[in-house]
Amino acid sequence: MLTSLFTLASVATALPATSNFDRMFIIVLENESYQTVLADNYFGQVLAPKGRLLTNYHAPNYIAMTSGSTDGVFMDNTADVDKTNIVDKLEAAQLTWKTYQEAYPIASGCYAGDSGTYYRKHNPFASYVNIQSSPARCANIVNASQLSADITAGAVPNYVFYTPDINNDGHDTDTSYASNWLQGFIEPLLTNQLFQNTLFVVTFDESANFLNIDTVHNQIYTLLVGAGVPANTQDNTYYTHYSILKTLQTNWGVGSLTSNDAGATAFNLR
Ligand SMILES: *[C@@H]1O[C@H](CO)[C@@H](O)[C@H](O)[C@H]1NC(C)=O
Ligand SMILES: *[C@@H]1O[C@H](CO)[C@@H](O)[C@H](O)[C@H]1NC(C)=O
Repeated sequence: MLTSLFTLASVATALPATSNFDRMFIIVLENESYQTVLADNYFGQVLAPKGRLLTNYHAPNYIAMTSGSTDGVFMDNTADVDKTNIVDKLEAAQLTWKTYQEAYPIASGCYAGDSGTYYRKHNPFASYVNIQSSPARCANIVNASQLSADITAGAVPNYVFYTPDINNDGHDTDTSYASNWLQGFIEPLLTNQLFQNTLFVVTFDESANFLNIDTVHNQIYTLLVGAGVPANTQDNTYYTHYSILKTLQTNWGVGSLTSNDAGATAFNLR
């Protein structure tokens, strides 16, 4: 009797055998080309050696990163998108999620406009109709100031999507402004025991040359760090924002959203 109860409880909480990390923490910066970011001292010489630099990684945008398709949304134009997205997959698998938005004008909930240095276009979760219409889901869109409380409470979810404000993400500033912000933000997290098995994905929404002026279309800097990813390594595999979804799906055994993420290559974390 006791044995079978114990077995049931174990099954309910066990992660699939493929699981490599217990949390993915995505930080999305803005509108800089791969070469520009790599030339920055912090991004190129300090942060990159702590993890694996993806040397052949391409955008397109926030909506792609979270739903497996651009859904007709060009760049980061504001849109209401009535599509299944990563939140549906995470919730179906009983995985927790939150997006932390810097300068969000409310503590939590769905806020439809822009405010100060918060821009809705950098918060893809504000675009999904099936989030907008759900108070329970809206409650997971929180002001970034909530992160330190969640760290203290040990309540940081499995999936974290962190959006710095329009200055910290480099959009209205430049790469060195963004790297200075990132250094202050991420370094304490990398040494915090709570994040020992967290995969940090530092990426950019799009390249500055997103209109295909680039010789390599929309190539951006993306770094994987934490969760046992070997330091000081590089990977020249062709990856895209769809690879983020594929990696989540592979790690947690949740299904794909579209043929884009189904056909993408998951990150090599070993
Ligand atoms: C939201 O976060 C900013 C810092 O990004 C903070 O200054 C502000 O007080 C917070 N607002 C609310 C409503 O929590
Ligand atoms: C991105 O940055 C470039 C300059 O590097 C600028 O010309 C362009 O307008 C910016 N794009 C957006 C969407 O802000």
